[in-house]
Amino acid sequence: MQNYDFRGDKVSPEIGQIGQILRQARNYDQQIRLIHGRGGNYPGLEFLTVDYYQPILVVYLHHHRDLEWCAALKEELEGNFPFALIQDRSIKKAAYIYSWGEPKEEHIAEEDGLKYHVAFSSKSQNCGFFPDMHVGRTFLSEISHNCKVLNLFAYTCSLSVAALKGGALHVDNMDLSSLSLSIGRNNHRLNEMPLNQVSFFKDNIMKSFGKLRKKGPYDIVILDPPTFQKGSFDVERDYAKILRRMPDFIRKGGLVLACLNSPHHDNIFLRQLFEQQPGFVFQRNIQQSAEFPEKNPEAGLKMQLYHYME
Ligand SMILES: C[S@@+](CC[C@H](N)C(=O)[O-])C[C@H]1O[C@@H](n2cnc3c(N)ncnc32)[C@H](O)[C@@H]1O
Repeated sequence: MQNYDFRGDKVSPEIGQIGQILRQARNYDQQIRLIHGRGGNYPGLEFLTVDYYQPILVVYLHHHRDLEWCAALKEELEGNFPFALIQDRSIKKAAYIYSWGEPKEEHIAEEDGLKYHVAFSSKSQNCGFFPDMHVGRTFLSEISHNCKVLNLFAYTCSLSVAALKGGALHVDNMDLSSLSLSIGRNNHRLNEMPLNQVSFFKDNIMKSFGKLRKKGPYDIVILDPPTFQKGSFDVERDYAKILRRMPDFIRKGGLVLACLNSPHHDNIFLRQLFEQQPGFVFQRNIQQSAEFPEKNPEAGLKMQLYHYME
């Protein structure tokens, strides 16, 4: 094996920088993002995201680094972080390429007193939990009391768990993925939430407006689609279609929590989609937390609140 001297190599400054940032930030008892490199506020670390699911450090590489680089990172961090996983997201089927301390595949993330199943498996790029939706979950739990909620693009239903914590009467979750919904069901069990107050529909939302009309009307509708998912959703084509059909399943006076996580579409794009539909009145942007600093806030997760007044 080739012997690398990292101290003399050009990767050394970034390894040192990562170590310095992470050593300052290790006493967290809940899930947290430690480095949000893609936000552009850590010059030189734009290729990196680091999350902490106590006690596991999860490093995502958005540009490839080799195994020697990973070994150097281990040397830098192992004393403070005994368990770690490194995933290479620069390749199509992103896999964990390196680990130390043999972290378990299954884990429980904790946030605001709620628990969520997380799985670090090479079979899936995502671990079952989106840390950057923290503000959205907190906000939803504040507004859900006595509400009937529809969670579209529910994934593993973390927003449903948050809504029930906030006193929602009932939450309907809809997603294409039965695996995600079954993890979602388990997330409700994990938090000892009554399953008669929650439903899980494995459906293509774009073909389910009739069903939603029958299940509605809802007091709160959450929209958190992917930017693009081949064959199932394209933000440019489909977001507006959902808004056109929404009057069929939202009650007058209801609220829409509209999310958009595309780096190429800004808040104005989302505002314009709503402006084209009569009855939706913009209330405000829900600000992302300081945990996810963005040099260009328009590139990160956008969350907007609308009132349906028609
Ligand atoms: C960004 S994730 C949602 C994250 C979730 N709101 C959360 O905070 O955990 C997008 C989800 O949309 C689902 N999806 C994509 N197209 C869909 C469609 N046409 N109908 C239903 N679900 C769809 C995917 O299966 C995926 O679970």
